[in-house]
Amino acid sequence: MTGSPELYKCDKCGKVIMVTSPGEGKLVCCDENMRLLEKQTADYKNEKHVPVVEKTAGGIKVTVGSTLHPMTGEHHIEWIAVLDGDMFMAKCLKPGDEPVAEFPTSNIDIYAYEYCNIHEFWTNKK
Ligand SMILES: [Fe+2]
Repeated sequence: MTGSPELYKCDKCGKVIMVTSPGEGKLVCCDENMRLLEKQTADYKNEKHVPVVEKTAGGIKVTVGSTLHPMTGEHHIEWIAVLDGDMFMAKCLKPGDEPVAEFPTSNIDIYAYEYCNIHEFWTNKK
């Protein structure tokens, strides 16, 4: 992986892809250019999306967000991931799960990411 991951979304079919090594070519789906998703860091309204990183006895815990994000079928966090130097780790979530993931690293100064099926891509720092 070269730097921070990028996500692209097809606004026609909803497909989301992660780019781990950027290139010059355009990404196309359903005969249209895919949209680069902004890495959002500032919450709005009452829903909280920014991942919160805490140290635990066995590593770190990442929670979405400072107020727990809903995990219903209609509105939920699909995955939480962290980039820790040369390690990229992710946990997939489903409706009904807690929007929480634990990772085996002692580094708390880490890039954390999450994807909400409605509000898209979020990180704790850019
Ligand atoms: Fe959301």
